[in-house]
Amino acid sequence: MVTVETKMTITTSQLFFLVFTAILFSSAHFSAQSSNEDEEDVKKSHFPDGFLSGTSTSSYQVEGAFLEDGKGASNWDVFCHVPGNIMNNENGDVADDHYHRYLEDLEIVQSLGVNAYRFSISWARILPRGRFGEINPRGIMFYNEIIDNLLLRGIQPFVTIHHHDIPQELEDRYGGWLNPLIQKDFVYFAEICFEKFGDRVKFWATINEPGLFVNRAYIWGTYPPGHCSKPFGNCSSGNSDIEPLSAMHNMLLSHSMAVHLYRKQYQMKHGGFIGIVVNALMYEPLTDEELDRQAVNRALAFNLYWILDPLVFGDYPPEMRHILGSELPRFSPRERKLIEGSLDFIGINHYSTLYAKDCTHSACTDGEDRPIQGFVNTTGYRDGVAIGGLTGLPRFFVVPEGMEKIIDYVKKRYNNKPMFVTENGFTPPKQQSEQVQDLLEDIDRIKFHKAYLAALARAIRNGADVRGYFIWSLMDNFEWVHGYKKRFGLYYVDRQTLNRTPKRSARWFTSFLTNNSHSNKDKFWRDSFRNKDMLKRSGDKKADI
Ligand code: NOJ
Repeated sequence: MVTVETKMTITTSQLFFLVFTAILFSSAHFSAQSSNEDEEDVKKSHFPDGFLSGTSTSSYQVEGAFLEDGKGASNWDVFCHVPGNIMNNENGDVADDHYHRYLEDLEIVQSLGVNAYRFSISWARILPRGRFGEINPRGIMFYNEIIDNLLLRGIQPFVTIHHHDIPQELEDRYGGWLNPLIQKDFVYFAEICFEKFGDRVKFWATINEPGLFVNRAYIWGTYPPGHCSKPFGNCSSGNSDIEPLSAMHNMLLSHSMAVHLYRKQYQMKHGGFIGIVVNALMYEPLTDEELDRQAVNRALAFNLYWILDPLVFGDYPPEMRHILGSELPRFSPRERKLIEGSLDFIGINHYSTLYAKDCTHSACTDGEDRPIQGFVNTTGYRDGVAIGGLTGLPRFFVVPEGMEKIIDYVKKRYNNKPMFVTENGFTPPKQQSEQVQDLLEDIDRIKFHKAYLAALARAIRNGADVRGYFIWSLMDNFEWVHGYKKRFGLYYVDRQTLNRTPKRSARWFTSFLTNNSHSNKDKFWRDSFRNKDMLKRSGDKKADI
């Protein structure tokens, strides 16, 4: 719920923004690298004081050292070793070898001029066998090193507890996310993280993109454990209509149990904040028809409100209940109490906008005409024309205004709960990604970030309580089923030598962060997060959108 105090803060910062931009526009100049990069005139000073700016990575995508120093096998270790699961049969065994090169990487992070860095903790490195074995002291040491070295450099650790990788033992013993037993395992793991690292970590995200994970792992079968049924795919086991609902239910309850524990035992002592990270695509109606407008709402409900409605309001969105009926699990009164309001902030991963087309009255294929997909077809094309600029991934299009729109939707539906853009990034289309020199001269990535940052600044100007922006990614890394061919990094990673080289975008980001900033770097987050609204969790009411 937005307090008067928050609204006042926003209004004051808007005023501040207006006065300052007027001065800056007339006097300062932005040190862009070329005229091309000047197109979107976005400045650090367009963002509120205390804003976190950083880059993101995740454990499996960068660490490597997959069975070293006591780490157990994860679901991804096992999945990637099955031939045919990953492009070119690549895997994260070595990845960027961040486990051994973390000091060099943290220097890179520092050299960018960021004040925050988001990374995730490998569950199997801390608990090789989940709750069924010992804590791995070398794993604790590794993340202590990362956290301490970040803080030494004046950089806030923003920690994701779970980013797609679970100990394989949990999968083998009881079926991982499909079994309610995982709730106990997740809380056990989270408690170790709070206990060992919580004195220094002020920002916790419980789970990264549960919606996308469940979709890939249990509808399409392309992420471990590779479950699906027809017409979605031809897996050896699974039920695409039911399993995703159970897995999500367990993820949401795991999240809220961990939040409950954090609030009860650690939050006051450590003074941190806890939230979740969602994959938040924006949708536009394919046609002007009312049915396609309704399809937009269903696409949002089945992909985004699915996760956020329970965590804010205590139940699944009515749009889903209406279509899925009793297939959609129910929260008991006790669970409802636990889950409602179990967020201090919402982490938004935003990459793209798609068209939404109604499938209740027109023909659709690929399972989009089924209840589990909300009877919505989502596509990047209208009459053969793409909705935005192309990237290296088929469903990622460059539509900067989508950032402003999705932030506005979340702001309105969830009463302007504090938000962080925890990921936003660009990977170039194939034809541009063959030559190293082209990859290093990544003007398109710079344009992408400038345009998305400008859209984000507009959303903030319109009152959205957004408190940070993280670029995916610090460096090129393992892009799940696509292997290493998709490069999102500000740093280029040579796959032979694993040397890191700054791309042009890394230099641009540094100049963006360090030039023309009116914010006092030393007090960057302290003041901003004194806002008590972060800790306010009762009284959230669903807003009409
Ligand atoms: C979101 C995921 O969190 C991250 O793991 C992935 O690499 C990026 N999207 C890019 O696809």
